[in-house]
Amino acid sequence: MQAARHAPLTDVVELSVSAWFYRNRTIAGFDNPARSLYVSVRELVENSLDACEDAGVLPDITVDLERVSPKRANNRIESEPQVFRLRVQDNGIGIPRDVIPRLIGKMLSGTKFTLRQSRGTFGLGGSLALLHGQVTTQQPVEVVTGTAGATEGTRVVMRLDIEKNEPVVIEEERTIKSPDEHGTAIAFYLEGDWLRSKRKIVEYFAQTSIIVPYASLTFRAPDGRTYTYPRVFHSLPRPPREMRPHPRGIDVETLKSMVTNTRKKTLLSFMTSSFQRVGKTTASGLLRYAGFDPEMPPSQLTDEDLVGLMRAMASYNGFMIPSSDSLSPAGEELLKAGLQRLNPDFVAVSQRAPSVHEGHPFIVEVGVAYGGQLEPGMRLYRFANRIPLLYDEGSDVSTRVIRELNLKNYGLRPDDPLAFLVHICSTRVPYKTVGKEYIGDVDAVRREIQLGLMACLRRIGESVRRKHRAQRQRKREDRLLRYYTFMACILSDATGRPVSTTRLFGGA
Ligand SMILES: Nc1ncnc2c1ncn2[C@@H]1O[C@H](COP(=O)(O)OP(=O)(O)OP(=O)(O)O)[C@@H](O)[C@H]1O
Ligand SMILES: [Mg+2]
Repeated sequence: MQAARHAPLTDVVELSVSAWFYRNRTIAGFDNPARSLYVSVRELVENSLDACEDAGVLPDITVDLERVSPKRANNRIESEPQVFRLRVQDNGIGIPRDVIPRLIGKMLSGTKFTLRQSRGTFGLGGSLALLHGQVTTQQPVEVVTGTAGATEGTRVVMRLDIEKNEPVVIEEERTIKSPDEHGTAIAFYLEGDWLRSKRKIVEYFAQTSIIVPYASLTFRAPDGRTYTYPRVFHSLPRPPREMRPHPRGIDVETLKSMVTNTRKKTLLSFMTSSFQRVGKTTASGLLRYAGFDPEMPPSQLTDEDLVGLMRAMASYNGFMIPSSDSLSPAGEELLKAGLQRLNPDFVAVSQRAPSVHEGHPFIVEVGVAYGGQLEPGMRLYRFANRIPLLYDEGSDVSTRVIRELNLKNYGLRPDDPLAFLVHICSTRVPYKTVGKEYIGDVDAVRREIQLGLMACLRRIGESVRRKHRAQRQRKREDRLLRYYTFMACILSDATGRPVSTTRLFGGA
């Protein structure tokens, strides 16, 4: 008899969202204990920075990373995964009591699925870090949080039920607080590898302090060192406004749910009320182009109609470009303050005008720093929505642009002490991975980076030339002075008259 080659089809298993993400956690950067430690720190700090900006307050963030498993003498063993306690505290908006478990203990839940710039995008990062901690250490998560105006806060100890993607509250208590206090502290245990992640984690804080110079950051590392970055800029960037979607970036599923939920009676009013920057004239033009009656009730659109409408929206060229009010660029003063942290001689920054990629607005901001305490050679600092990008530099669009720059044109050389900064902000950053590590090579983005950097390099080149000219001039003067001194001494010897230092060196 032949053996059955397939399992019986009755053994159907469903994976919960969190089980699926945990199995595939490498897509979010949880590859190994070192990377997982770095990503966990980063995800929690990002959430805290978002929470502070949502509250409109200058961020004060303290991160404690403490090794809890015993340190062993043997180096080989010390570099093996160990258990850490990570605690991140902020003065952000805080989390209302009844939504703590859902926001923190459930994957794909969040408050950032809106059309405005934020660091969070997927409703995944922080929750996956906590899940990683739970799976590797079997310890629960502790959240202490409070919102402004309330006289009580909440302390919750909870677990994530990975099979159900549901939070399980183990302990809950009220805490007393003053109405002015607000913010969140999240503490949990996780497996990590400090020796192999130290460089990246420390670099993460250093780079965050450049793009978020309005934050005060403290990082207490497991090796006993404390890294502090005091605030050097004292205002927040303009907050982003939440916008309706732009018709160009819409997909059929989103369009379908918008049509299902609309109360509007005609396609024309549906278009003008559901999308940004679509008035009556634009909506009529589009509907004519797409072949729809403007008076048709949206509820009568079939699936086929929806596909047709979506395609027409993607190809119609009568729309205004998306509004950039949903963005929160850093601004030139802030970028300068950030780059000054590197103590260079010269800084040039440039903010480009808003542009569009797939229906989403984006703004590129760039900067170049030169000289001073910078090391010889070129360095690139990449940021997206104010998050430092520390991996996959070689694949990033900015690296490609910089490789193609001809520094000679600006009187500069690749071994000059140069730092490049590229910041892209968008309601949908064209990341290549959910791990938010690098920006894809999108033509429109590449062009803006190129033009911005070229403008900065021109200014830096001029400053460097001016400096060199001044140095040459000084050298020439020194040489002349030495020559005149020599001549004066000879003449003095010949004539017997003393040398007048007043005449040589000036003065009264
Ligand atoms: N420190 C905090 N203060 C206030 N709210 C927070 C904090 N940390 C997390 N949250 C809430 O929990 C939600 C889930 O966070 P999580 O990191 O899992 O996803 P996200 O930030 O929305 O997206 P991403 O996957 O890109 O990080 C957030 O949307 C936010 O509402
Ligand atoms: Mg997040």
